[in-house]
Amino acid sequence: MSKLRSQGWFGKTGKDGFIYRAWMKNQGIPDDEFRAKPVIGICNTWSELTPCNAHFRELAESVKKGVLEAGGFPVEFPVMSLGETLIKPTAMLYRNLMSMDVEESIRANPIDGVVLLVGCDKTTPASLMGAASVDLPTITVSGGPMLTGKYRGKDVATSDVWRWSEASRAGEISQEEFRLIEGCMARSRGHCAVMGTASTMACMVESLGMSLPENAAIPAADSRRKVIAQLSGRRIVEMVREDMIMSKILTREAFENAIILNAAIGGSTNFVLHLLAIAGRIGVELTLDDFDRLGSQIPLLVNLQPSGKYFMEDFYYAGGLPVVIKELQGVLHQDAITVNGHSLSVNCQNAECFNADIIATYDNPFQEASGIAVVYGNLCPDGAIIKPSAATPELMKHRGKAVVFENIEEFHAKINDPELSADESDILVLKNVGLKGYPGMPEVGNMGIPKNLLDKGVTDMVRISDGRMSGTAYGTVFLHVSPESAEGGVFALVEKGDEIEVDVPNRKLNLLVSDEELEVRKNKWTPEDLGFNRGYVHMYIRDVEQAHLGGDLKFLRGKSSSEVTRDSH
Ligand code: FES
Repeated sequence: MSKLRSQGWFGKTGKDGFIYRAWMKNQGIPDDEFRAKPVIGICNTWSELTPCNAHFRELAESVKKGVLEAGGFPVEFPVMSLGETLIKPTAMLYRNLMSMDVEESIRANPIDGVVLLVGCDKTTPASLMGAASVDLPTITVSGGPMLTGKYRGKDVATSDVWRWSEASRAGEISQEEFRLIEGCMARSRGHCAVMGTASTMACMVESLGMSLPENAAIPAADSRRKVIAQLSGRRIVEMVREDMIMSKILTREAFENAIILNAAIGGSTNFVLHLLAIAGRIGVELTLDDFDRLGSQIPLLVNLQPSGKYFMEDFYYAGGLPVVIKELQGVLHQDAITVNGHSLSVNCQNAECFNADIIATYDNPFQEASGIAVVYGNLCPDGAIIKPSAATPELMKHRGKAVVFENIEEFHAKINDPELSADESDILVLKNVGLKGYPGMPEVGNMGIPKNLLDKGVTDMVRISDGRMSGTAYGTVFLHVSPESAEGGVFALVEKGDEIEVDVPNRKLNLLVSDEELEVRKNKWTPEDLGFNRGYVHMYIRDVEQAHLGGDLKFLRGKSSSEVTRDSH
């Protein structure tokens, strides 16, 4: 083991060493802790405002036990946390800010290795992005999914929020019943119980090799969640001794594996933005086309909501992600190394499926082709994405007239209006919900069906926006249109009644309006002034990259290493 980074603080003599150690000792730390023990930072995204991560102080204690057992010196520290359900206007607006907090907190402190405690959607990518920019030995522990909700003998979880909400709009259930379901759905610690974004991110972490095997699916309330936290605490100390830095794991092959596995689990579309951003930090070349090329033909191997039937808890009992990895061995980079020092294929060699209705074999999948399709056209010259496994097959090739909402306020004002002129073959277009235009790209892309069509029994329509979609949602929804409308591309110029051609098999999305007419409209177009002229949001709007690049801030791409050149005294 080379000299520990933390000894640049705790190993010093004279006044500096005195200062670095003395104040730490007020926590009751014996002197020998400072003598060449690997210092392990436990980067905790705990917050009572992030309910999915509210149990993380307890989880941190398990990590600490493991660190101590392995001869390390654990130090827990807080970072900004992002609770998906509470943060306005959207947690995505702050993903990059949180990543900066993680990055700078790690680099600025006497830390040799890091355990990232992550759970609710954005806390995972933000933590990985920040840690990647420092590139120390790093291991991830996810908080785990909630137990499946139960309401009147039925299973309920996050995807049902959309179903119940539509049922309540259609008058099928009362407001009282709608409220009663709340407490039945979120009945235990943990993040959303479906294959939404949080579970997708937990699977991403395991696919990338950034966690111990089985990390993705162990329920938060299961005692084995604490066990994996403790084992991760032990392992990170060894990783420091082996100098197993993050960039040794996060190779191009690891990212390709994550894309393939995300397709096989029917993961969230948000995965695209987050994986691109992490790749940008660690310095791996990755493009939107990689997701289509590597993932779109991968079969769907899990039967989990929102596209399927079961929940994360069931997935774990059925064998979890290692079974899926084993099934995909023929298409994965099997030698990709993981945090435990073994390859992905070695880690899954004893995996066994205990429920074939939840995890299918590669040869007999639930769907022949899953993953994300990337479409291009004059509406989205830099791309837009769709998750065909969550869409209506008959709408994959379609022509329809645009029903346009210039912004989310117009959408909310009109969607329940009985006078809204729309039929089921029309295409809903929602503008100004992109990274700059909202700002922060909220999960509103799966906009609700107009009330008058809902009443007629219409359950799906083609919808296009520059926003995102919750990983727990579904429908024929084109998302992440790039460039977004706030950038003044063709998407900004769509008008009511324009014809749009959708052709997913040929990867096309076009506005059937002449170039001359578009030129006339472009000359009249002016960007909306959102009035953000100070603070982080001002900087965000100025520097955020478009969705096809991952939505990171321009100046955050790459890494600055773990080196700090100047002392504090
Ligand atoms: Fe936190 Fe769904 S709201 S994971």
